[in-house]
Amino acid sequence: MNYRHHFHAGNFADVFKHAVLVRLVRALQAKPKGLLLLDTHAGRGRYDLQAEAQGDTLERQPEWPGGIGRLWSKPNLPAGVAEYLARVVAFDRGAGNTQEAPRFYPGSPRLLEALARPQDRLVLCELHPAENQALQAEFAFTPGVAVQLLDGYTAVRALLPPPERRALVLIDPPFESQDEFARIVSALGDGLRRLPAGTFAIWYPLTERARVDDFFAELRTRRLPPTLVAELIINPAAPKMKGCGLVIVNPPWQFDREAEELAVWLAGALAQAPGAGAQVWWLVPEV
Ligand SMILES: C[S@@+](CC[C@H](N)C(=O)[O-])C[C@H]1O[C@@H](n2cnc3c(N)ncnc32)[C@H](O)[C@@H]1O
Repeated sequence: MNYRHHFHAGNFADVFKHAVLVRLVRALQAKPKGLLLLDTHAGRGRYDLQAEAQGDTLERQPEWPGGIGRLWSKPNLPAGVAEYLARVVAFDRGAGNTQEAPRFYPGSPRLLEALARPQDRLVLCELHPAENQALQAEFAFTPGVAVQLLDGYTAVRALLPPPERRALVLIDPPFESQDEFARIVSALGDGLRRLPAGTFAIWYPLTERARVDDFFAELRTRRLPPTLVAELIINPAAPKMKGCGLVIVNPPWQFDREAEELAVWLAGALAQAPGAGAQVWWLVPEV
C-alpha cells in the first residue's frame, strides 16, 4: 500500500468525484429516511495542498491547480457545482486559510460529514495505518462518525444491510493492484445481494480504455440494477490518466440528467487538451 492521496488531493479527479458525490447525496436525501453513508476507501479526510508539492524524496508538480484551482474564483457556477465549491471554501476557511489561493481541501469523509443530516450515519474505512490514524484524529471530536481500520471490500460485506435499509456506498480505491476491478465487481455483487436497492458509486481512472471497457463488460454480465456511468476526459492523448469516471448503481431518479449537466460543465472547466469532454450513459438502463 504505497498510494498516498495527499499527492493528488484537489486534482481534476477529486473535483469530478466530489462534485458528483455532493449531488448524489442531496438527491438521495430527497427522501427523509436516514441513510448509511459508507466510504470504503476514505483516505485521511483533510489535505494540505501546500504539502502536495513535497514528494517523499523529490519535489512534485502539484495537481490541484488543474482541479480545484480552476474552479476557485470562477464566476457563474451552475447550481450543481455551487454547493460542492461552497463546502470546499468553507472547509478551507474553517481550517484557517486566509490567503486567496486554496490551501486545505476536504476529502470525501469531510464532505460527507458536512452533508449528513441527523438521521444519516457515516462509516469511514481506511486500511493504511498512518492514513487511518490521521482520519481517527480528524474525527476524534465529531460524534456519530465511525472510523474503522478495515478493508473497504470487507466492510461492504460486513456492514450491509444496515438497519436504515438505505445506503450510499462510495468505493474509491487507489488502483495499485492489478485485480482492483475484479475486487470491485466481487464486492459489488455481495453488496447488492445484501442490499439490492443500495446505491453504489465506484470511481475509476481512465488510463487504458480497454481495461475500463473490460470492467464494463464484466459488470454487464452481472445482472445489475439500473447503472449509470459518468465519465470525464480531460486529455485523450495523456500518457497516463486521460480522465476518470463514476459507475453509479441504483442512482436516484433522473440523476442521469443532473450528472450529464454537471459532467459536461466540469469537462469545459477542467479540460487540459483538445478532445476533452464528458459522457453520461446507462450501462444497464432503467426499465
Ligand atoms: C483514492 S484514496 C481515497 C480518497 C478519498 N475517498 C477521497 O475522495 O477523499 C484511496 C485510499 O484507500 C486506502 N486503501 C487502500 N486499500 C484499501 C483497502 N483495501 N481498504 C480500505 N482502504 C484502502 C488508501 O490508503 C487510500 O487512502
